[in-house]
Order: sequence, then C-alpha cells, then structure tokens
Amino acid sequence: MSLSRRPLTALVSALVLLTAHPALAKTVASVESPDHSLRVELDVDDGRIGYRVFRDDKPLIGTSRLGFLFQNAEQIQRNLAFTSQQTRSADETWEQPWGERRVTRNHYNELRTRFTETINAKRAIDVTFRVFDDGLGFRYEFPDQPSMKDVRITEELTEFDVVPNATAWWIPAGEWNRYEYLYNRTPLREVSQAHTPVTLKTDDGTYLSFHEAALVDYSSMWLRRIEGQRLKAQLSPGSEGWKVRRTAPFTTPWRTITISDRAGGLVESSLILNLNEPNKLGDVSWFKPAKYVGVWWSLHLDEKTWATGPKHGATTEETKRHIDFAAAHGFRGVLVEGWNPGWDGNWFANGWDFDFTRATPDFDIEGLSKYAAAKGVHLIGHHETGCAVSHYERQLPKALDLDARLGIDVVKTGYVCDAGQIERQDVDGGPVLREWHDGQWRANHQLRVVQEAAKRHIAIVDHEPIKDTGLRRTYPNWIAREGARGMEYNAWGNPPNPPEHEANLVFTRMLAGPFDFTPGVLSLKGRGGQPIQSTIAKQLANYVVIYSPVQMAADLPEHYAQHMNAFRFIEDVPTDWEDTKVINGEPGDFVTVVRKQRGGNDWFVGSVTDENARTLTLPLDFLDAGRRYEAQIYRDGDGADWKTSPFAFVVETRSVKRGDVLTLKLAPGGGEAIRLKALR
Ligand code: NOJ
Ligand code: CA
Repeated sequence: MSLSRRPLTALVSALVLLTAHPALAKTVASVESPDHSLRVELDVDDGRIGYRVFRDDKPLIGTSRLGFLFQNAEQIQRNLAFTSQQTRSADETWEQPWGERRVTRNHYNELRTRFTETINAKRAIDVTFRVFDDGLGFRYEFPDQPSMKDVRITEELTEFDVVPNATAWWIPAGEWNRYEYLYNRTPLREVSQAHTPVTLKTDDGTYLSFHEAALVDYSSMWLRRIEGQRLKAQLSPGSEGWKVRRTAPFTTPWRTITISDRAGGLVESSLILNLNEPNKLGDVSWFKPAKYVGVWWSLHLDEKTWATGPKHGATTEETKRHIDFAAAHGFRGVLVEGWNPGWDGNWFANGWDFDFTRATPDFDIEGLSKYAAAKGVHLIGHHETGCAVSHYERQLPKALDLDARLGIDVVKTGYVCDAGQIERQDVDGGPVLREWHDGQWRANHQLRVVQEAAKRHIAIVDHEPIKDTGLRRTYPNWIAREGARGMEYNAWGNPPNPPEHEANLVFTRMLAGPFDFTPGVLSLKGRGGQPIQSTIAKQLANYVVIYSPVQMAADLPEHYAQHMNAFRFIEDVPTDWEDTKVINGEPGDFVTVVRKQRGGNDWFVGSVTDENARTLTLPLDFLDAGRRYEAQIYRDGDGADWKTSPFAFVVETRSVKRGDVLTLKLAPGGGEAIRLKALR
C-alpha cells in the first residue's frame, strides 16, 4: 500500500508513536543487577557500539557511544559488529585490612561482549559490564592481537547520556589548581569539564556518582559536557601527543556509575573498591591506622618556615616538643616538613634542589627517631618533590631505605606545582617533559612509589595526588591522599573553605577514597587571625565525617592546651572502623555519619551542617541490643554561630541504649561529635 492511500489518522498516530518512542537500535546483549533494579543493554547502530541503563525499567542513561581514536591507527568507533558474549555472576565477601568497614560484599552480574571490525584489520575489542544493586562499572579490554602491539590512544570516546533532568556537584578539570576548587552546584546542563567523582541528583530523587576504578597505567578520565546532559570522557593529556600508550592485551580502568535513592547510599557503596583487584601485598598488618601531630600548622600560619634559618620549624628542639606532646596524648605519628635540604630559596620553582637522603644540620634525624621510639612515637617522613619528579624517583630507593632504618613507616609525598607542570626527565641530564598530575605517566610514577615503599613496609600519603580510584584495596599501603581543598586553605584564606565544604566533600571527593584533610584546628584562626568558618564542635565532627586511616590533630600543642575539654574527643576518636553508616545528608547541606570502632564496641557520631542551623534526629537503632552506652556529647552551645560565637560549646554525657533517639542541634557552620562508649 502506498503512503498516499493510507488513511490519514493511521499515518498521524504512526508519526506520534515514532516521536514518543524514538526507535532504539536492536539490543544485542543485556545484563541486570542481582536485584533486577538495574538493566544495561548494548546495541550496535550503524556500526557503532552503544549502551544504555534502565533503573526500575525507566531510562537513566540513554544510548551512549563507546570507542577510541588512536595516533597511529584508525579509530575504533564505526564499522563494528557484535560477535559474542559471555555472562558470569559473583557473590563473595572480603575483608579490608583497615578501612571504613571490615567486611565488604561483592555481588554482581557480569556481561563480557566482543565487537569486531567489519573492515580492514578486523580488530576486536571487548567491553565488560559488572552490574551491582547499587550501580555498575564497565571497561574496555584490548585482546592480544598483532595490530595492537603499540596502542597510542589520543581520545577515549565513552559517553554518559543522562536522561532525567539533574543537578550536579562538581569541580572543573584541566585547570591550574588540580583538584583544589570549591564545589559548584549547578544544573547538569551547566557543567563544562569536570573531574570525577561528579555527583548528580535527578529531579525524581536518584543520586548518581560518576567516577572510575582501578586507574592503573592509564590516564585519568575527566568528563566534558557535549550537549544537553550528555557527558563524554576526556582523558588527561600526556607530553608525547598521545594520552595513553599500551601494548595489548590490556584493560582500561572501570568507568563507574554508583546509583542510590539516598545521598548516603553513594557513601556507603563499596562499588569502587569491589572493582579493584584484591590485595597484592599480602600481610599488611605492619601498617597501623593512627593519628598524628606535627609542625605543619605553624608552617601554614607563617609562624615557622620550611626553610632553614631563625624560624625553621624542623629543628631538633621543636620536634622534641611535638614528640613529647604526641607521647603524652597517645598520638602515634609526628610529621616534620622542612627536615631536608632544598627548601631554602624558591622551592616552588625549583624542586631539583631537594635531597631526600639527608637532613639539615639543625635536625638530628638519628637522635630524634631514637628519642621518638623510646616514647612509642614514629616520625612521619615528608618528600615534597616540587614536581621535579624524576629527580625524586632517582633518590627514592635510598630515601626509603633511610626511612625504614629510622622506623619511619608513613611518608607524606608532595607535588606542588600547577597542573601540567610535573617535570619528567627520562635520562639524567636529558630533556625535561611536562606532565599532568593525573596523566598516565604520573599514574605510573605514583604506583612505583607505592610499590617501592611497600617493599620496606612504608605507607604513602600523597598530596597534590592523582585522584583515588580504590587502589588501596590492591595496595593497602596507599593509605590516603589530598586531592581537594584541605585545612590549609583555612590558614591561607583567599578564600577559606566555606561552611558547606565538608558536606560537599562527603558526597563528592570522599566517594573516591580517604582524604588527608588534617582536621582539628580548635583555635579556629588562620594566618593573621582570620576566622575559620566553623564552630569548635564541627572541628571535632570532621574526624568522623571525613574518613582517613591517618588523621592529623592539626593544631598546635599550645592551642590545644586552651581547649582540653574538646581535645578529649580528638584523643579518643579512632581511625579504623568495623562499620560505617550515613544516617542522613544532602550534598553541600549537611550529613551525619556513624562509625563503629574496629576491635571495640564504641560507636562514634559526626554531624556537620553548612551555613544554616539545623535540627536533626539520630535514632540509635544501630547500637547493640541489651547494652548501655555512655553518650559523650560534644555539641554547639546556645547561640553558637561560626561568624559570631564559634567557641560556644558544650560537653555533656547521657546514658543511652538502642532505640533511643538523640536530637542534634547544629549551629550555622556547626556540628556535633559523639562518642557512644559501650558499658558492660
Ligand atoms: C601542600 C600540601 O598540601 C601541604 O600539606 C604541605 O605542607 C605543602 N604542600 C608543602 O609540602
Ligand atoms: Ca595541597
């Protein structure tokens, strides 16, 4: 029947149907989450691979394309055919040697698909999806084949086309200050180019986090918005023209989407860790989660200097003072920055002067480590590279040998320079290439440091890091990082961290992994006395809200001496947990986290708010039945307000049991910290 002879009504309804349900290319393979709430479908449309995600049968990610461009080969983007699939399921539990919880369940359905070129080289590429109840990950797998012996990726073409209208919390990627930006909260349609994790809330109340897992020998993925709500991978650059250079067989990192009805569900998810390889280091009980103190805050206040001279912070005498303080209050570590040659002059501009194998003459490193050991304290090492990274790597074995000999079992590393300015020199005296903090070369450098350190039972905390993608599961001595605005911004100002900062971090940066935020500045003042935008109680709450297995008590001993009632919480709070739950929270607004101490029965509560006062209820239904607890409450006092009355603060105790409900009254810029001490 020709079109002209069809009844008009039938034609109109056919057109309506077409526009209301745009034809989807035929699904070639699909996989569901174990609870059937999530479904991923794959198709090939005109030779292009696409995937889409449904949640409760509603489209969440619309058809999104996959593929690659190469410097030395034709693209893998069009001319593909679906050739085969395999499925598999897993349901297992594993234990973290240290962490925010001990036991983790890894439960997913996996779909591995193969696509083959219909033209030319007939190259094959695999795409593997793992679908969990709380999200999914997928990665490309480049099978071994003759045409892929030298793979030089210039672009990864992975897309994420978000269907429901959404709000985004994000920081810009590709800018000079690496990850150290205040979080934007904008419609997804206003995102430009963002670092992951990027957090979304759809208008119908679904929370999503886009990130990646197991970033090894590859470049970091940024997300660039192409149009509407369609995001596309943008790999961090490399100095040699390509972004990633590999030899097949190899796999890319997992591209991940964590999905929950609650913002807290994103935080509770173990999806990123589950997508990383198990522990490769064996017994790592030599790493002890712990708190530390040090000269650090006095350097950022400008009271002391990294450089030698009259204000030098890392002197024998000053370090002894911090060791004594640590020993008196039960802190395991003392961090000393500025202990080695290279800080004099403009170290920002010249990392090539740093020597990591010897101390400055006024720092008796041998004597101090003995002095510390006698008191059960360990010095924490510091390797600021100033971005002369190859220069650092050449010294690394000797530097770590020195640390190991002196009982230094945690080393903080630093990469202070603008993004894209890491100095790489493959041959001593040869040309210097400029790399990014999150490109493939840096990813490999960081892992080399972690592996060298592991051989000597040393743990690494890196500042100005490459972002965390859960590699602490595989290398449990890679314990924490910076990679966001930490406390130091409150010393510098310009501007300081706003009251919403921690509530942003929990639902964005913290989804990547532990953060060496360095909390606990009870003096509430930065350089020149400028106010920190927090109450006292909030400084305490941050020890529970922001997770890291190493937490600094960042303020100076003389400042803590003026706040001993509050300081008690910092002394008591653990840094290793049996379990973690997020009771309530919204990105950038507020959050309440409860954690059970590992190896004990106490629970700890941290609750923080933004610039708004808030009253929250805390049902104590996580406590053990039949046990009484002493609630040691550290809360904002009447009239507390970060602007006008930040020191209004109350410590009180109550007897509580499971089923009781506590009311948390948080001041503007405030918080509350509670130790629920288990009684017999
Ligand atoms: C920046 C780091 O974040 C900070 O903690 C450190 O003190 C300085 N670099 C110097 O290494
Ligand atoms: Ca920093």
